[in-house]
Amino acid sequence: MNRQLAAITGIEAYVPEYRLTNTELEKLVDTNDEWIVSRTGIKERRILKDPGKAVSDMAAIIVDKLLKKTNTSPDEIELVICCTVTGDMVFPDTANIICDKVGIKNAFAFDINAACSGFLFGLTTGSKFIEAGTHKKVIVIGADKMSSIIDYTDRATCIIFGDGGGAVLLEPSKDGHGIVDSVLCGDGSGREYLHMKAGGSLRPASAETVANKEHYVYQEGKAVFKSAINGMVDTVQKVLKRNHLTTADVDWLVPHQANIRIINGVADGLDFDKSKVMINIEKYGNTTAGTLPLCLHEWEPKLKKGDKIVLTTFGGGFTWGATYLTWAY
Ligand code: COA
Repeated sequence: MNRQLAAITGIEAYVPEYRLTNTELEKLVDTNDEWIVSRTGIKERRILKDPGKAVSDMAAIIVDKLLKKTNTSPDEIELVICCTVTGDMVFPDTANIICDKVGIKNAFAFDINAACSGFLFGLTTGSKFIEAGTHKKVIVIGADKMSSIIDYTDRATCIIFGDGGGAVLLEPSKDGHGIVDSVLCGDGSGREYLHMKAGGSLRPASAETVANKEHYVYQEGKAVFKSAINGMVDTVQKVLKRNHLTTADVDWLVPHQANIRIINGVADGLDFDKSKVMINIEKYGNTTAGTLPLCLHEWEPKLKKGDKIVLTTFGGGFTWGATYLTWAY
């Protein structure tokens, strides 16, 4: 019996209006446009400036647009997964808050925290509910308000991250196109290189943790850089091999947008044609769980039914992986 695949039947995205340019960052920290562009490929990132607005506000805009675009009533949605590391609150899950804001009442909802790999972990998780036959309409969101956990006096991190995200609707595939296979990995020993020190049960928030700036992203860029290239190349190769494909068979590679040199390193490591690699890091920087849906949404007009697409990512945890899908519309 053929497996029931989950298909992406719609995609939407959102980035806030405010553009934080390299020139503006030059006023905040000791850096310059030439260094940032040559070392990261980033020219600007979007920042959610509105006071009192959080990930759920960006996600509610995205989900509203997605429901309209796919002619779906909020009542039809059965599951909402929000992938984020910057949820509105420690609890409840932001996915529940999003449901409340858009009027989704018949769903259960939860968050996935897999940092930059969130969207791929969520996509795979959501697709399993469709494959099992228990759910027919699932929304998977990848969104982050990284500006809420970035120290704008730390030049090693503030140049990289931005705010934004996207979401997909998953439904049972009607013609065999959809999410075919994923190779997902984790290695908690990597937490040493990329984490937020305080605010969890290990180091609850206190005057001391605030004074020590422990509620911001801590990153050892070089260690992350090397592991990211190796992890993405390895999992893409594994998922291709498992599905009897070569890189030449793939129409689009969608890599996590962390650094243009990482993206190029992955493409080179795979000997992949760069004209088929989705890249928009220059406009948005690293939006963590948002990068993959932001890319897919931007390229949506160019995608054709049946296109073979490989998404790959690497992030805090460490978490990483690759997903192979065929575009369903
Ligand atoms: N502007 C100017 N100079 C800077 C700078 C900035 N914003 N940030 C660092 N530098 C300096 C460093 O101080 C260092 O100076 P030194 O040689 O005098 O000590 C020099 O530039 C090189 O720093 P280094 O950290 O080795 O740079 P890098 O080439 O590794 O680039 C990152 C730094 C962070 C851009 C890079 O390591 C990276 O992208 N890592 C992966 C990050 C990532 O993807 N994270 C998200 C999770 S997937």
